[in-house]
Formats: sequence, C-alpha cells, structure tokens
Amino acid sequence: MSETVTLRPRDWDSHPPYIYPDYKSTVLRGPTKPLLPIKERLRQLRAPVYGHDAIGPLDHDLTRNAAKNGAPLGERIVVTGRVLDERGRPVRHALVEIWQANAAGRYVHKVDQHEAPLDPNFLGAGRTLTDNEGRYKFYTVKPGAYPWGNHPNAWRPNHIHFSLFGEYFASRLVTQMYFPGDPLLAHDPIFQGTPERARDRLISKFSLEVTEPDFALGYVFDIVLRGPNETPMETPR
Ligand SMILES: [Fe+2]
Repeated sequence: MSETVTLRPRDWDSHPPYIYPDYKSTVLRGPTKPLLPIKERLRQLRAPVYGHDAIGPLDHDLTRNAAKNGAPLGERIVVTGRVLDERGRPVRHALVEIWQANAAGRYVHKVDQHEAPLDPNFLGAGRTLTDNEGRYKFYTVKPGAYPWGNHPNAWRPNHIHFSLFGEYFASRLVTQMYFPGDPLLAHDPIFQGTPERARDRLISKFSLEVTEPDFALGYVFDIVLRGPNETPMETPR
C-alpha cells in the first residue's frame, strides 16, 4: 500500500546553479525556461518505483563484477556510508548506483577517447541497496584523474559518480564523491560550482577503521537526501 508524505522543501543554497559559466557545457545545456513540476501525486509516492530483485551478488564489487582474466589494476578501495533522510534517519533499501573511470582515468564509453588504457577487467559500474541502517558498501579501485577539455589543462579530480533513489520518487539524487586532499579540487569548476558552504559534503573521509588490513583503503561517504545538511546534487531542480 502506498501512502503520501509531504517533503520538506529543498535547501537550494546547497546546490550548484543550473548554469555556471566556468563549467562550460552548463551554458549550453542548463535550462533557460521554468521547469515543469513533477505531478504532486507522483512526487509523494512512497512505494518503490523499481524492482529490488535485479541486484546481483557481485554488483557492489567493481573489482570482480567485470573481471575476465584477473583483478583490475589500481589502488583497491572500499567506499561505505549511510543514506539518511532529512531527520537523520536511515533510508532503508535505497538503490545506490555508482559509475567511475578506471585507475588510469578512462571510462568504458565510446565518447571517452582519452589516451589512457582501458582495463579489460574493469567496467566501472556497480549498484547495491542500503541495509536496515541505511548503510551501503562498494569495493572498487580509486579512479584516476582525467582531462576533459573544459578549459586549458583542465583535469577532473578523482571522483565517483553516485545516483540514489530513496523511499520517495522525488528523493532521487545524482552527485559525485571526491577524495580528501585532492589538489585538483581547487581548479575544478564542477566542484567549485557547488556553493562553498556545502562543498565539504562532497568529499569522502579516509577511515582507518573502514580500511581492510592487507586489502583495501577505506573511505566513508554519507549521503543526506533532504534537509539542511543535504548532499549537493546535480539533477535539475
Ligand atoms: Fe566523471
């Protein structure tokens, strides 16, 4: 049975603008007309709009889910965190999807012609569901920086793309997770396009506790779908 719940309005001061001239392609694709609101009934729909049974046992492990003849090259990492709602409560059974470049900074995508090697054992995509405490966990390799042509000598910081679906249809979040101490953050118009007060929410924290001995470095990235601490997102308002 579905029920309706009214969501708190978004804190738009935490999110990047549609059009941020330093991030050149936003000038071309940012909407210039008022958006059409999602129909109220759909916005408040609490029932999941996707199936849960399609998640495979290796979908959360990018070091194994596309392996053909060995492990992917790169620095193995584990990324975990909690998905929380506007009151800090765990969002259970949220669908969390990630995609990323390989350790050399190359995506498996025809548009990516960066002169860096593809890895036959790495696809760069994974998904999982949060548990009863709102927790998710991925195993992967640290993505490399890559050039992107936005401006002379433009390089994206190491990052992992995230997409989430919470309990409500409107609780969709698309964002990027960064790594602490990355010198490219200061030069990246996508990261800088997020209001300064909210930028730290996009940077994961290194954790020795999460680090698995002799296996993988650990990073924690919590995601808040709504409210004053909500994670900055990329999707249209
Ligand atoms: Fe990317």
